[in-house]
Amino acid sequence: DEHPETDLMELAKRRGFFFQASEAYGGVAGFYTYGPEGATLKQQVEDAWRDRFVTREGHMEIDAPTVMPEPVFEASGHLDTFDDMIVECPSCGESHRADHLVEDATDVADAEALPTEQVEALIVDHGLDCPACGEPLAGVDVTDFNLMFETAIGPGSSQAGYLRPETAQGIFVEFSRLKEYARNQLPFGVAQIGRAYRNEISPRRGLVRVREFTQAELEHFVDPETDEPPLERVADVELPLYSADAQQGDGDIETLTVAEAVDENVVTSDWVAFYLGLARSFYERIGVDMERFRYRQHLPGELAHYASDCWDAEAEVDGNWIEITGFAYRGDYDLSKHAKYADADFTVFQQYDDPVTVERAVVDPDMSVLGPEFGSAAGDIAAELDRMAAAGDEQFENLSDDDVIRVEANGTAWGVPADAVDYHVEEVTEAGEHVTPHVVEPSFGVDRLVYTVLDHALETDEVDGETRSYLGLPAEVAPTTVGVFPLMSKDGMDDRARDLAGTLRQAGLSATYDDSGAIGRRYRRQDEVGTPYGVTVDYETLENDTVTLRDRDSTDQIRLSVEDLPAAITALRTG
Ligand code: GAP
Repeated sequence: DEHPETDLMELAKRRGFFFQASEAYGGVAGFYTYGPEGATLKQQVEDAWRDRFVTREGHMEIDAPTVMPEPVFEASGHLDTFDDMIVECPSCGESHRADHLVEDATDVADAEALPTEQVEALIVDHGLDCPACGEPLAGVDVTDFNLMFETAIGPGSSQAGYLRPETAQGIFVEFSRLKEYARNQLPFGVAQIGRAYRNEISPRRGLVRVREFTQAELEHFVDPETDEPPLERVADVELPLYSADAQQGDGDIETLTVAEAVDENVVTSDWVAFYLGLARSFYERIGVDMERFRYRQHLPGELAHYASDCWDAEAEVDGNWIEITGFAYRGDYDLSKHAKYADADFTVFQQYDDPVTVERAVVDPDMSVLGPEFGSAAGDIAAELDRMAAAGDEQFENLSDDDVIRVEANGTAWGVPADAVDYHVEEVTEAGEHVTPHVVEPSFGVDRLVYTVLDHALETDEVDGETRSYLGLPAEVAPTTVGVFPLMSKDGMDDRARDLAGTLRQAGLSATYDDSGAIGRRYRRQDEVGTPYGVTVDYETLENDTVTLRDRDSTDQIRLSVEDLPAAITALRTG
């Protein structure tokens, strides 16, 4: 196995956070099952995300299908461009990401941005070998490999469909209904938490690069002319920024407040800056270590096909920086493409505060000329003339009757005699205009968040002369809030402890009961899954109704009455 098992992977498997899926059948790379602890942790991370980006921002959330028909991805650009570079070893047949091979072996930092021929040449020039079998890759082809999983919808000559490679498309395609729901008023945000699928060429061990994963995405639709983000809410938040300039020169991470980043134009989109600020508190809340965290700007060649400025939140895990979130300004790319391909109205009518009177050039064609002479194209020619006049086409300037106006309609160039049209300027009153919203998109990978939070929480210290491993998870995301233990399983302490666990559960706390093994071992077991509090029922409990409450990180204990326990733990948990 080329990947040594890390402490985290070992713990994840042993304690039920996550493990290779379908292992009984040999397993398939890139698919993981979350065990009981992991499924709860993931759910808590999603809940914290929903609270931060949906509830507290007043956005809406939808739940769209994971399978979508082919035309969606023709429009979105994924069929054409959602590719990675692949190289297949001629000796062992193993496939690899060609750009990653080059990046690992050379000082090229961003091979993904290079054309395939150049990556091929770099593999040959550097004499790279296959990482699987060690044989040379000389003379190989580097080709594009589309990452979408294709499927067939329905029997027979079925319709092609794809598993969505991002949840975002499920929001864009429903835009007409969503804007109605938002009462046709910008700005508004639509979120979705759900599965996305990418047929990754080389999945990595752990949850970092998998083939089925969960995204939490927000598509914030804004009017590019008039909507401004509420920057004052995040102005003082400090952002550790690793700009494209710094990456290309000798620069390093520079910490700027959101206000400074905007003023100094380090982050060019104010909306992106707003979300970088908002997200920072979310990362801290779920337990990302801010000493191992940065925002990295995409290099020009790295930008996705739809993005004009993009920053990634990155966390340091196992000695590597991994992308945990992408913040992109997608402009009107998606809505314009879908409007065109689906022939739908994906605009929002923005009413002006007061109606405005504008001068507009109009063309009244003489249909007695245009009709007979141009046949069935006449209607399209008339419409095109009107559009040209409104757009200020210069052919209409100083027009004399002998001129011929060139018009493209129905895929043909036509010559319309100027005396067949009446061109004049009219005053019209406009109540508003149709705007194609721009999209600001924070896109979080939930599995990478979970993996980062676990990695950053894994601590080792010494307790009673022994080495202890524990997960220092924030109480809000820890899968279990409190472990309840009888000091010994006798004299009624076990019954008392079992009852107490039940009482805590009724108070809405996640409590687990454990009476197997020595008390020290039971504490360690809960430490390893990050349970922040431990309650022990002992002989004193039977006498005076008090228990000990132990803090996971300090291992300090206090004694308090059973009656006060649910409220005390609830208060501790919510800080
Ligand atoms: N809608 C934008 C979008 O999908 P992306 O940067 O391709 O952007 C967003 O993906 C996030 O999804 C990433 O920051 C990452 O956290 C997560 N992600 C992407 N591919 C992944 C994979 N193969 N395994 C796990 N997480 C992945």
